[in-house]
Amino acid sequence: MKEWTREERYRYLKDPQELYELYQRVSKSVYRQTFHVQSVTGLMNDPHGFVWHDNQWHLFYQWCPWGAVHGLKHWYHIVSRDLVSWKNLGVCLLPDQNDGYDNKGVYSGSAMPIGDKMYLYYTGNHRDADWKRHAYTCLARLGNDGWPEKYPLPLFGSHPNYTEHQRDPKIMKVEGRDEYYMIIGAQTKDLRGCILVYSSPDLQHGWSIAGELNVPGFSDFGDMWECPSIEHIGGHDVLLLCPQHITLPGRGGTQNHNGYILGTMDWDTLTFTPDGQFHVLDFGFDSYAAACANNIEDTDKAILIAWMGLPDVSYPTDDEDWAGCLTLPRELTVRGRRLIQQPLPELKKLRGEKIITNKGVNPLPKACEIELDCRPGDVAVKLFTSENGEGGMLVSFDEAKKEISVDRSGMTNRFNLSEGEVRTRPLENGLSHLRIFVDSSSVEIFVNDGDAVFTSRCFPTKEEHLFTTEGETFVRLWPLKAAVKDSFLI
Ligand code: FRU
Repeated sequence: MKEWTREERYRYLKDPQELYELYQRVSKSVYRQTFHVQSVTGLMNDPHGFVWHDNQWHLFYQWCPWGAVHGLKHWYHIVSRDLVSWKNLGVCLLPDQNDGYDNKGVYSGSAMPIGDKMYLYYTGNHRDADWKRHAYTCLARLGNDGWPEKYPLPLFGSHPNYTEHQRDPKIMKVEGRDEYYMIIGAQTKDLRGCILVYSSPDLQHGWSIAGELNVPGFSDFGDMWECPSIEHIGGHDVLLLCPQHITLPGRGGTQNHNGYILGTMDWDTLTFTPDGQFHVLDFGFDSYAAACANNIEDTDKAILIAWMGLPDVSYPTDDEDWAGCLTLPRELTVRGRRLIQQPLPELKKLRGEKIITNKGVNPLPKACEIELDCRPGDVAVKLFTSENGEGGMLVSFDEAKKEISVDRSGMTNRFNLSEGEVRTRPLENGLSHLRIFVDSSSVEIFVNDGDAVFTSRCFPTKEEHLFTTEGETFVRLWPLKAAVKDSFLI
């Protein structure tokens, strides 16, 4: 695997032409997705700035143009009318080339649309001459002409009582309160993850620290909390966060997690009182840094998109100089004490003609949706098997253990072995329904109408193009149409 020097990782983008050759090479990869957003070249990570504005959805993501490496991060801009088909608009925020506040990266953030402008809040990742990190919370304004104007000074610098790991501002307007709030993922000096809360009467000025968010029972839960947000869904407050460097039961060797806590947020005392435990958002292998749309009108739900990837791991396409894609958009609701995640209803538009499949070995199109109704008993779906029905990714429900698991150890291309190759989730009430979305290099499995989701990258070989099912099931399959324009726009 290629070793990247610091100079190579942090090279400034001067001219789109310098990426065109790379794009041409990358776009020939057999693993390019067809209905998932992916970057034109290089590495993509966190989605952010997810809002409805000017009659369309806007979404940005972290983008390092040069290759599958975490280096100089830009904000790349995409738009959609229905959250199904996406169009590239090109790079929106670039790091400053003159030692400015974001000289080594425009890191994750959020957006707030007001009138015909969108305010973009982000972390300026500054490195000084000794390569010491300094975090700034910065603002840019995007007009409807698509042209971003960065404010010359940051809104504020890092808080001195915490380490320089302070990032990912999430801007929000809280119902019934006059001021705006911004929450930021941070790390205490004794290395515990936490959230800082800032407030201001005005979006553009006057920001000051309100305090550290108190989350009783979670004062020592990982050493850094990335990408926090507080959503209000169906009368419940939901704290979403990515705790790092902590091992959780059932999560293999993974040290980075994306999850949520249901509870009640008190903005007067800055206390989020949990109403239960931390739940992972996704039980699969590759999902992190989920972002919820900032301004949807229906307060009973939220819409979430996550990065289909993880920090600190590598993927088979790294050698092709690209990595990462986004998950499908999901509708979030609260049922009992859990978040329910369903694929957005609009995704049905992608379906081609329905195929009812038989038991035994069936062809698996490169992009398809498989739906299964399941009767009580063991169920096994093997995706990406070869002609003889061997190998592949095994999705199985064990009736005796009341447990569903996804095992990707049977694939020819195995990767991230230290994270573990099997993920499980108890299903106390058994398995009744599965919806499985397969793209060229990913699988998303929605279990029992959104009760659990498993999201995973996978890189099948030419021979791995079949699937089998076992158990009392009724199986339908739809080939899915392409929905992302993989067009070169920098
Ligand atoms: C999460 C993250 C954020 C940061 C961004 C940099 O994946 O580390 O905390 O802002 O990625 O790309």
